[in-house]
Amino acid sequence: MERLGARIEIVPAAADDAAALADVAARTFPLACPDSVSADDIAAFLDENLSEERFRSYLADPARVVLIARSEGRIIGYAMLIDGPGADEQVHRAVTARPTAELSKIYVLPDHHGGGAAAGLMTGALRAAAARGARSVWLGVNQRNARAQRFYTKQGFTVCGTRSFRLGGHLESDYVMERPLNDPGT
Ligand SMILES: CC(C)(COP(=O)(O)OP(=O)(O)OC[C@H]1O[C@@H](n2cnc3c(N)ncnc32)[C@H](O)[C@@H]1OP(=O)(O)O)[C@@H](O)C(=O)NCCC(=O)NCCS
Repeated sequence: MERLGARIEIVPAAADDAAALADVAARTFPLACPDSVSADDIAAFLDENLSEERFRSYLADPARVVLIARSEGRIIGYAMLIDGPGADEQVHRAVTARPTAELSKIYVLPDHHGGGAAAGLMTGALRAAAARGARSVWLGVNQRNARAQRFYTKQGFTVCGTRSFRLGGHLESDYVMERPLNDPGT
């Protein structure tokens, strides 16, 4: 367990965190979406990918690591790591290190932005990836999500490609970013 100051701790999620994770996901996923994404498309994405049931399956999947940031007994953010480069050909071309791991999600409640929870989750995710043998961590970030891009750049990620994907009625464009894991201490 990592403690950040007296108030935030970073721990692996447990099976009975699924409902609370779905609640935090519902409150934070919209923050990563450009204004052009409709409320219906966000609701459909949440239902399909970030429901309590989906989190239960993520938590049981040996290819995934889910970390939570907790403050005063409540989950204030979470991160999810998935082994491998995924299935997207655009990512396969952009991310060449093997083995690699995807930082699939990192989301913090807005009241806690700038408070160190995201940095703590990132440190935990990089350490978990290194412990699983990954030589890099990669992620996709919406090209219009400037805050997240700034955060990833501060955390040592650089853009290595792009990918596009459908979110409801729109085609969205991501930057693919990667950080090598050869630094001692990660
Ligand atoms: C992405 C996220 C986890 C980062 O956590 P955080 O606590 O906000 O991160 P930090 O405050 O350390 O870093 C954000 C940086 O962006 C800057 N920033 C804030 N708003 C910005 C904007 N509109 N444009 C550009 N930079 C911005 C901040 O000033 C800070 O940079 P600085 O430390 O140089 O001042 C968090 O913002 C979040 O949960 N966002 C909503 C969900 C999301 O987008 N997740 C990522 C999906 S890929």
